Amino acid sequence: MCGIIAAATEKSVGKLLVQGLYKMEYRGYDSAGVALHQIDDIAHLRSLGKVKKLESKMVKEKPKGKIGIAHTRWATHGKPSEENAHPHVSNNRVFIVHNGIIENYVALKEQLLKKGYKFNSQTDSELIAHQLDFFLNQGSEMLEAISLLKEKLEGAYAVAAIDLKNESHFYLMRNKSPLLLGQSDSGMFAASDPLALADLTNEFVFLEDGDVAEVSAKEYKILDKNQKRAIRKITTIDVSSEAMGKNGYRHFMEKEIYEQPTAILNTLDGRIGGEDVLENIFGEGSNKLLSKVERIQIVAAGTSLHAGRVAANWFSAIANLPTQIDYASEYRYKNPYVDKNTLLLTISQSGETADTLGALRYAKERDYLGSLTICNVPTSSLARESDFVLLTNAGPEIGVASTKAFTTQLTALMLLTLSLAKARKLNPRLRGRVVGALRALPEKITESLELKPKIIKIAKEIAKKDNALFLGRGIFYPIAQEGSLKLKEISYIHAEAYPAGELKHGPLALIDKNMPVIALAPENELAEKLISNLEEVKARGGKLFVVGNAAGNMKLKAKNLINLPECDFLLTPILYTVPLQILSYEVALLRGTDIDQPRNLAKSVTVE
Ligand code: G6P
Repeated sequence: MCGIIAAATEKSVGKLLVQGLYKMEYRGYDSAGVALHQIDDIAHLRSLGKVKKLESKMVKEKPKGKIGIAHTRWATHGKPSEENAHPHVSNNRVFIVHNGIIENYVALKEQLLKKGYKFNSQTDSELIAHQLDFFLNQGSEMLEAISLLKEKLEGAYAVAAIDLKNESHFYLMRNKSPLLLGQSDSGMFAASDPLALADLTNEFVFLEDGDVAEVSAKEYKILDKNQKRAIRKITTIDVSSEAMGKNGYRHFMEKEIYEQPTAILNTLDGRIGGEDVLENIFGEGSNKLLSKVERIQIVAAGTSLHAGRVAANWFSAIANLPTQIDYASEYRYKNPYVDKNTLLLTISQSGETADTLGALRYAKERDYLGSLTICNVPTSSLARESDFVLLTNAGPEIGVASTKAFTTQLTALMLLTLSLAKARKLNPRLRGRVVGALRALPEKITESLELKPKIIKIAKEIAKKDNALFLGRGIFYPIAQEGSLKLKEISYIHAEAYPAGELKHGPLALIDKNMPVIALAPENELAEKLISNLEEVKARGGKLFVVGNAAGNMKLKAKNLINLPECDFLLTPILYTVPLQILSYEVALLRGTDIDQPRNLAKSVTVE
């Protein structure tokens, strides 16, 4: 989603603001802007497109200022354009940047229009600048103005603001949208993502809902939701910009695909021992909770939801537990029935997806046994607000299309499955077998990465098409869904996934020589049935590509077959994901799309 950064130092902050925007660009990248306090005026530069364009503008115009705010945008209200880019300004005096959505913006805008304010954008954010200007004109100081504003706004927001008549401070306010302060000897900073402040500081203060803050180069003052002075704990986070480099790869997505063996090792590290999963890996007291679980409710979005769908199969098969799974964006609105002893399980790479976070907050008011999250970002709201957490420890994922976050989520979900089975005293031998297979998994993934030359050949055929169909059965259906999501996200080819048995109930009508069909065919009890489904495709002239070892008798050309290394069947969904990731990446490369920042998408969707 959008990214915010603010800084106050003894030197000009223009460069560091732009560097921070680059580090957050994965969150949103349709326009960017900066406002720098130059004492006599505020330099205000905005540009449509990526941060690079803004940087070129800054190199030309050379604005200077020791206080500044900046923003990279992912459009919600109002199309991507220079007028809709942040910072927004009122009366050439108040400049603001905003993440989130102001839900009552229509009513507030109307009031401001009546007071004579003119709006220059179609955003919901601009009213924040005008409303602050209004309070300042009524005689308020900025800290008071921002506190008054907080009372008026409904929705989610992280805001940073500067005032022409105050050359030494910037101001912050937060509600349901991430915002943190960074402190150092050389100045004070704020950002919506700690990564933006990598190399500037490792000391962070998380603002809480309802907080406002006044920040200078030397100090800061936070007022909580009751307007009381608040002292918040300082958290040390080591964010190195090295982890944020491409390290020789062409794209972050490529690097992240190749990081998977190490990422999975990191997920497993300290969580398995001997022939079992270790105790309390989700936090002190988690085993006691797990032993009481009778049902699981999963809530997640996008790729994380696909991980949940795989896990639901594992929970049932290995831990004898039923699971209900919902899109995070739907869950709260269906008046969910909460059965006795149900565990609320959220899955999220970022830990900031607004719908998933909203679901957790809603669930806390309901009669759940407890909440557990599988998350990649230790400092995220989801990790902080859940009762128990298992961090995937995959390292920062920058490419918008999720890769290593998914396979590490699956690894973590298998650890959860084993922990539930252990707490329920089930399947000790099977647990031992799976733990052994988990240890071998990084090596298997490394072997599957070596299939790239073969996959490139298939990519050349798929890159010429406008549509693609992915097929899987059972636990491979969510993997087919993930494969199809990857392809559409980064290559813009329309792709759909079906459980192969459903083919004859509709999608078979689409099959002809222009429809590539990518089927996942592991050797399992469904293999025979799957092969019959694939024969149906072949008989109708469909172009078939098969990933897996079960298609040996189909007389397919070798170039259309991708055989994977042998692996414990329960972990095959993780292994089979890898060739699909490489396939999408190579297709997108051939089609020349913007792989790390595909059009219209954002890495972390912090609006509902
Ligand atoms: C966005 C990203 C997806 C991701 C989804 C859920 O749509 O582009 O890659 O799967 O959000 O994100 P989360 O951080 O909650 O896993």
